[in-house]
Amino acid sequence: MKAFLFVTDLDDTLVGDKKSLNFLEQLNEELINHRKTYGSKIVYATGRSLTLYQQLIKTQKLLEPDALITAVGTEIYFNSNYKTPDLKWSSKLSIGWNRDLVEKIAANFEDLVLQQASEQLPFKVSYLVKEEAAKKVIPQLDNLLKKENIKFNLIYSGNFSGSENLESKNLDILPFDTDKGLAMKYLQNEWGHSAYETVVCGDSGNDIALFSRGEERGIIVGNALSELREWYTANKTDYRYLAKSFYAEGILEGLRHFKFI
Ligand code: GLC
Ligand code: MG
Repeated sequence: MKAFLFVTDLDDTLVGDKKSLNFLEQLNEELINHRKTYGSKIVYATGRSLTLYQQLIKTQKLLEPDALITAVGTEIYFNSNYKTPDLKWSSKLSIGWNRDLVEKIAANFEDLVLQQASEQLPFKVSYLVKEEAAKKVIPQLDNLLKKENIKFNLIYSGNFSGSENLESKNLDILPFDTDKGLAMKYLQNEWGHSAYETVVCGDSGNDIALFSRGEERGIIVGNALSELREWYTANKTDYRYLAKSFYAEGILEGLRHFKFI
């Protein structure tokens, strides 16, 4: 056994239904022991803003992570008082980014509905869009943004919460140099961990970046959405594992598969 970097999405990956609570507790225990004994690091990588993360921790048994990646990779926090996001990371993101212009261009599409105010952040503009509309709107939006020379990253992901909700999905527009995977790479670099000593876990579209930026050991939980399953099937390799079990139980299954625990 040796130290590893553990990076996990929260909603519908680490945090699931009532049945998965015991497994979450079991996983927490494994991780705490690993951190104490070997110096392993625990990172939560969520699409949520810090505001919605702080709401979640009131109701869920989560650990104090060594770093917290919020807002789909656009903010990284190193200490637990969560006053300001890491400045070195934020300053990388402003290059080529023009938030006002992004919002102005997206306003041309009536199928894009702005998400709640807490999810609109300096380096993230987020919408809800129905799946049918998304097929036509996303390529058009992509074209318009390119024409304006904005450097951006479009991330489309669904919601699970018990069953796949096809009605409304999330569309995040971020600066070009950001997503959960690049934020994870930044932490790897800060702490000197290789891809082989890193394990990443997820269930939906915004987690694809965690699996696709390098050769990290990837755990896709058994309840993953079709958008991630399809990507997994099209990009099969032995360093990614599709678990049979759901949520935290699926993570435990994957950690055993890769012999991290
Ligand atoms: C979280 C965020 C939301 C984002 C979604 C997908 O639900 O709150 O703003 O669009 O993740 O990345
Ligand atoms: Mg998720």
